[in-house]
Amino acid sequence: MPDSRPGQQRWSGRSPVGRIAYVNGRYLRHDLARVHVEDRGLQFADAIYEVFGVFGGQIFDEEEHLDRLERSLKEISLAMPMSRAALKLVLRELARRNRVREGLIYLQATRGTVRRDHAIPDAGPRATLILTARAADAAGVEQRRAAGISVVTRPDERWARCDIKSTGLLPNVLAKTAARGQGAYEAWLIDKEGMVTEGSSTTAWIVDREGHLVTRDLDRAVLPGVTRRVLAEVAEGAQIGIVERRFTPSEAMEAREAFITAATIGALPVVRLDGRPIADGKPGPVARRLQELYEHAAALKAGTPGQH
Ligand code: PDD
Repeated sequence: MPDSRPGQQRWSGRSPVGRIAYVNGRYLRHDLARVHVEDRGLQFADAIYEVFGVFGGQIFDEEEHLDRLERSLKEISLAMPMSRAALKLVLRELARRNRVREGLIYLQATRGTVRRDHAIPDAGPRATLILTARAADAAGVEQRRAAGISVVTRPDERWARCDIKSTGLLPNVLAKTAARGQGAYEAWLIDKEGMVTEGSSTTAWIVDREGHLVTRDLDRAVLPGVTRRVLAEVAEGAQIGIVERRFTPSEAMEAREAFITAATIGALPVVRLDGRPIADGKPGPVARRLQELYEHAAALKAGTPGQH
């Protein structure tokens, strides 16, 4: 039964004993961690977020995620809530306190708590910084990697600055939910020209008929995926040609392979699109090879949390 007394509302999800969240300088019990009702993140989605993958106890692509965080914050004129060095310490401490070895760290910075008014206040309130960490269902991800996933297409109904990692994710939430309702894992979003932009929370890729690795060029219509960037680097290192261009769902259906990437999953093969099999309907060799190369490269340069 939810408890409706003010300040007493309890977390209703799975919250293993001992989970700890970070809120504005304090490490708190996850089920008791909260922000103010007037927080601009809550009122306006006036906030930026990042998701760091943790694999084998290491934070993958940490510098790249911090670079993107800084860029997103700059785009909405919000200062870094703390120095990069201090933030790295918090990331490690949170992973350690939550004993996360396979999982993710979620970070959100909002413009803080102030009387509700759309315009950004001149003397901004102190930013709100929250971080949580949780273990992933690593076995579930590996099972999906082996079997491949289904994707359905949905219209891209998001705003015109999808290059900013904003918490305003309602269109993404609705698209993902529609996909799940159709038994698919992800939705590929289609722009007004009929081209795939990206997944609701992942980057979209194909291996085209010529064997080129294809993903959309970066503009304001897509998030510059960190996994996308690192994967492109390792692909080049392995002489796998990569072309940044747009593609349609029909081209994807005729492709040799398709896959998605994100920090929490690496590369996951797509074997069905809108109910039709891609190629022979099985995960392909390029996605598998890229995943191996990615894991290797990321582990080499990873930060190491949780050494205790
Ligand atoms: N999603 N595109 C969108 C719209 C995303 O939300 C994400 C990440 C990506 C992949 O980016 P990266 O490789 O940096 O994880 C692409 C995160 C995981 C999320 O929202 O939970």
